[in-house]
Amino acid sequence: MRKFSVVIAGGGSTFTPGIVMMLLDNSERFPLKSLRLYDNDAERQATLGAALEILLKEQAPEVEFIYTTDPEIAFTDTDFCMAHIRVGKYAMREQDEKIPLKYGVIGQETCGPGGLAYGMRSITGMLEIIDYMEQYAPNAWMLNYSNPAAIVAEACRVLRPDSKVLNICDMPVGTLRRMSQIVGKQPKDLDVRYFGLNHFGWWTSVKDKEGHEYINQIRDYVAEHGYLTQVEVDTQHMDESWQATHKKAKDILEVDDRYLPNTYLKYYLFPDDEVAHSSCTYTRANEVMDGREKTVFDAARRIVETGTAVDSGFHIDSHASFIVDLARAIAFNTHERMVMIVENNGAIANFPDDAMVEVPCIVGSDGPEALAQGKIPMFHQALMHQQVTVEKLAVEAYVEGSYQKLWQALTMSKTIPSAKVAKELLDDLIEANKDFWPELK
Ligand code: NAD
Ligand code: G6P
Ligand code: MN
Repeated sequence: MRKFSVVIAGGGSTFTPGIVMMLLDNSERFPLKSLRLYDNDAERQATLGAALEILLKEQAPEVEFIYTTDPEIAFTDTDFCMAHIRVGKYAMREQDEKIPLKYGVIGQETCGPGGLAYGMRSITGMLEIIDYMEQYAPNAWMLNYSNPAAIVAEACRVLRPDSKVLNICDMPVGTLRRMSQIVGKQPKDLDVRYFGLNHFGWWTSVKDKEGHEYINQIRDYVAEHGYLTQVEVDTQHMDESWQATHKKAKDILEVDDRYLPNTYLKYYLFPDDEVAHSSCTYTRANEVMDGREKTVFDAARRIVETGTAVDSGFHIDSHASFIVDLARAIAFNTHERMVMIVENNGAIANFPDDAMVEVPCIVGSDGPEALAQGKIPMFHQALMHQQVTVEKLAVEAYVEGSYQKLWQALTMSKTIPSAKVAKELLDDLIEANKDFWPELK
């Protein structure tokens, strides 16, 4: 069987060990020739790199493994780049979350003003790694998790239209895992119909391979419990704040009980509740730094100290399995059905062709082919129009260096009450992001 070379960009990410473990777990289905980590923060990456080096020596000595900050060494002759960079790291995520809260506006990694601020930082980093990949591995595919995926995907569409970059999100697979538990199935037994934007969508059907429809059964469950399930479903999305998010799906469903909502809709439909339950001094970024980041980096340091990765403390989850399945789908033309972020081009019949939407696709060696989702109702269409306009304006603001367009993007966001607040927030965000954003005039 053919063997593949993979580079993980954002090698110092808290998600790197999980993806590496998943790759090793799949070595029969997706054999590895080499695995490389690439990051622009040598020190952060070295902690994970040194631990994973030990793990690979023990579990897969045949795989060539390196970690580097040199893009030529990292990307040359790779087949896949699995990307999950965070431009500005958690320090800037914290700003994205805390600055809006000063104005009584939700502070979130990918939604509202925080998401816009992150988007303006991410585009530069993404273009950099896409260009490295195309220079050193012109045939490679980038499978990208880097957020905010909606804005990153729109930026790729506009600025790198011919690049082989696939933007993905783990929320639909994470929630499908919960749905599969609710109906007593395995996630792989279920096929979904889904439409929306990234972090802004709805399931319209959840069927097993025999064609049995479960949407009503799941709806009844969600109407009572949200997506909270009794059994531990994964290692990801388990913290207390995530449990509150899964539960909140119950309220979203009340607004519109036709379809099953993505949990991220709470930031747009219930921003006031969200702000009321937020602390201005301790946000999700703090929770992640005190939680996942600490756990993962402590585990890595322990491996290096003890010299062994037996009982490593690293976990695989549906986040890791999704990106490895995607690589397999492309490598072996599996035609697996997966929810991806792609250019609409008619997949949602009554939505603009040039919108980056999230829909089920059949994925093979040529990439994803979107499945037609038909027409969507006015309520969903109008919400999506507003949000996609925010995302498009942000990318235009980036490309043109336009202060006004970013102000319009913020003003258009359902999370912000007025143009006045939008401007005050923008000025604050510009100051906080001066090392990262292009200059706006
Ligand atoms: P993290 O901060 O632990 O890791 C990000 C890494 O990227 C850091 O090591 C940082 O040094 C590196 N980096 C930053 N800019 C870079 C650049 N220009 N080139 C190379 N490396 C760079 O963050 P994390 O919490 O592990 O998340 C990683 C990313 O994955 C984030 O963008 C996060 O939003 C995203 N994510 C997306 C999904 C999804 O559904 N799409 C799910 C989970 C995480
Ligand atoms: C989900 C989303 C991701 C997001 C992540 C944040 O998985 O799909 O896009 O990055 O949650 O999780 P965190 O644990 O970092 O708050
Ligand atoms: Mn996501």
